[in-house]
Amino acid sequence: MTGVFTPSGSVVSEPVTSEPVTSKPVTSKQWQAPLLSRLQHLRPQRAPELEPVAAGRLTRVVGMTLEAVGLKVQLGQQCEISVSGDRRLEAEVVGFSDHKVFLMPIQNIEGVQPGARVTPLSSHLGMRVGPGLLGRVINGLGQPLDGDASWGGEEYLEFAPHTINPLKRHPIEKPLDVGVRAINALLTLGQGQRVGLFAGSGVGKSVLLGMMTKFTTADIVVVGLIGERGREVKEFIEHNLGAEGLARSVVVASPADDPPLMRLRASQLATRIAEYYRDKGQNVLLLMDSLTRYAQAQREIALATGEPPATKGYPPSVFAKLPQLVERAGNADRGGGSITAVYTVLTEGDDLQDPIADSARAILDGHIVLSRSLAEEGQYPAIDVEASISRVMPNIVAKPHLGMAQRFKQLLALYRQNRDLISIGAYTAGADKDIDQAIAMRPHLRNYLSQGINESVPFPDSLNTLQRLFNGDAGASQGQASTKADASAPVIPRAGAGIGTAGERPANKAARASAPLARAHNRQK
Ligand SMILES: Nc1ncnc2c1ncn2[C@@H]1O[C@H](COP(=O)(O)OP(=O)(O)OP(=O)(O)O)[C@@H](O)[C@H]1O
Ligand SMILES: [Mg+2]
Repeated sequence: MTGVFTPSGSVVSEPVTSEPVTSKPVTSKQWQAPLLSRLQHLRPQRAPELEPVAAGRLTRVVGMTLEAVGLKVQLGQQCEISVSGDRRLEAEVVGFSDHKVFLMPIQNIEGVQPGARVTPLSSHLGMRVGPGLLGRVINGLGQPLDGDASWGGEEYLEFAPHTINPLKRHPIEKPLDVGVRAINALLTLGQGQRVGLFAGSGVGKSVLLGMMTKFTTADIVVVGLIGERGREVKEFIEHNLGAEGLARSVVVASPADDPPLMRLRASQLATRIAEYYRDKGQNVLLLMDSLTRYAQAQREIALATGEPPATKGYPPSVFAKLPQLVERAGNADRGGGSITAVYTVLTEGDDLQDPIADSARAILDGHIVLSRSLAEEGQYPAIDVEASISRVMPNIVAKPHLGMAQRFKQLLALYRQNRDLISIGAYTAGADKDIDQAIAMRPHLRNYLSQGINESVPFPDSLNTLQRLFNGDAGASQGQASTKADASAPVIPRAGAGIGTAGERPANKAARASAPLARAHNRQK
């Protein structure tokens, strides 16, 4: 018996063969190979996951930008920075240059010292989710802001977004009832549509969002309060949402004094939570106040890491980030749920040409403009119907409905164009039939657009009142009951049949059943 060395170093015996032993000289390779394999076990055999994580150290802090060396990390990776004592703060890798890594903190950086230890973390960030999440207020990291109690939850939701193949997205087909008369009837939103709410400060954005949260028929509402004053967060939750609105909402809040990265995270988390409910087949209404603050947070980060400013101080990455966020809303595959999103866009000095407003208008499926002059006249919600548009409305409502909405806008425009003549008495009644109608209808149209903060107007009621308005029923403009509409035909019956209706909430069933337009809809079905 002879022996050979195995890679593990043990000796396995071999049967003796009858072949003659050759007298060739043994090469160095031949004797080295078994020896090396015998020594193999002495090599360090570390499993990759046991490899120590290379921790770096902080070398520089300028404003909100942290510079570290000695790190082996990826762009977007999370790191932990040791601050004095046991305190740690989280930061994200936002750029690098040679051996230097740039990080942005998620929390306040007070107390950070030169040479502080920077440790990379696992990149799979997420949070627990479950039924208890509804009614809660959380921050951009998914931590509760409304007390320490956790909501438990069986599932783990990773923060990383998942993209939907655009060809697999279900088209926008059904209207969504938002409980606001002017929007339901004149700027109908579709389930899965993304619209901008364009307004200057103090014109009524938050109140309008609060009304939609309370009155919509959507299954779930996710509210992102991004970069607003801290006081407003509480006010919005207590006054605008109220207990009723909050019960079926998740609020993600990151006020203006949070670092820019936290504000970005909060916008993304609100979208992620909306995606979670959509993937469960729910119709979600996502309200983001505001998209401008999201863009401004990205601007702060980009400028701090050395990106040059382009349009009005906004670096190019801002305009790339906007569609990345907005495109995540919308419909899922056929049979899945939907995310209908409303993003508020601040128009500084009521300038609709602001670069963010401009870019948002291009990537959204419609815009609702709130006008300061209407608010000053006391018309709330101060929706400027003429300047607003829902791009999907023609595809989701019936022709008679669309015809009435267009006529409504025409009459408002006619009055505005001839306002000066009318007010100085230079217009002679009877000179133009359309202007006569615009003058006669003017107070009723304005009444129709006004709606109290606590007044819910379901979709079928919005339509019935609109139809009664054109039937010459003046009381209809204030949503008063009338029997006249049942008897006569609408003034503008431009096209065939079909009045669309949105999803209904149980409380509105009675109203819907008694509404003549809704009856027309039922007959069609
Ligand atoms: N439907 C309404 N009915 C009556 N008043 C309203 C209505 N909507 C808004 N207002 C009035 O307008 C004020 C400002 O509204 P809101 O706080 O919603 O504005 P905003 O655009 O969110 O302001 P900011 O830019 O400061 O966030 C409210 O305090 C309220 O007085
Ligand atoms: Mg507000």
